Amino acid sequence: MATEGALLSATGITRRFGGITAVDGVDLHVREGEFLSVIGPNGAGKTTLFNLISGQDRMDAGRVTLEGRDITNLTPHRIAENGIARTFQHGRVFGNLTVMDNVLIGCHTRLRAARSRVPVLAPVIEILRALIRPAPVRAEDAAMRAEARDIIATFGERLTPRIDQPTYSLSYANRRRVEIARALALHPRILILDEPTAGMNESETAEMQQIIGDLKAQGRTILLIEHKLNMVMQLSDRIMAMDNGKVIAEGTPAQVRNDPRVIEAYLGHSSIGGTAPAAHSLTEGAP
Ligand SMILES: Nc1ncnc2c1ncn2[C@@H]1O[C@H](COP(=O)(O)OP(=O)(O)OP(=O)(O)O)[C@@H](O)[C@H]1O
Ligand SMILES: [Mg+2]
Repeated sequence: MATEGALLSATGITRRFGGITAVDGVDLHVREGEFLSVIGPNGAGKTTLFNLISGQDRMDAGRVTLEGRDITNLTPHRIAENGIARTFQHGRVFGNLTVMDNVLIGCHTRLRAARSRVPVLAPVIEILRALIRPAPVRAEDAAMRAEARDIIATFGERLTPRIDQPTYSLSYANRRRVEIARALALHPRILILDEPTAGMNESETAEMQQIIGDLKAQGRTILLIEHKLNMVMQLSDRIMAMDNGKVIAEGTPAQVRNDPRVIEAYLGHSSIGGTAPAAHSLTEGAP
């Protein structure tokens, strides 16, 4: 795909761990409003690639731009401020905080009322404003809470009744939902989801697919890593397949599903995902 008009462009992304090149010269371009999925067998380098884009890890080579602005190797919080929000493959929520507080953390980059630009004294002024809570700080807090409540309501009865419970008390699937809610609270330009249905049963997966489908229908730009290929085939505008750190195929779901290199990477199945025959556990998700 051409780089012109791309919202996010990553070129020549490379990350080595000792003797392993986990990500090896990968190019990835995403247009505004596009739904791009990255698939590939375990260890292909998918998570590492997203860690590099979102700043959780530093690349050895390559460049990432967001709307032409260089964001290569910025810290995770700077990249979040630039509008890239993500969830994690192994689920990361603040266990001792409530559902509401976890989601409010996602709003953090948008808080303005307590902020100060006064040189040197800014941190002290911020603390004082947070303690004294003048009217603008209270109003902003109320607005953020109302918005967080709306985002949590996206997940219906799963999260709303648990809004004031600490997330350690939630089921695994609910913690994954909180993570997505927290990412949405950032008002992301790009939403990165790393295996959002990992560990979920069939009905939970269908529910999550519905929510992700709704996010897509809102016109959001979404990058998805997922092993459940039926879901990938149904949601994606485009799919990029990786193996051994490299891109082995890229195209529409139909093109990638029938690409011989992808089929070989998935242990020689005659077809993958969708309505094709050869239904195998890989179409339902790997460990
Ligand atoms: N911090 C690390 N230190 C050393 N090796 C690592 C590190 N992170 C990843 N790797 C290695 O890099 C390769 C790619 O791993 P990565 O987690 O990106 O794969 P993946 O495609 O996300 O796999 P999965 O589908 O199992 O999540 C693997 O060989 C992995 O062992
Ligand atoms: Mg991974």
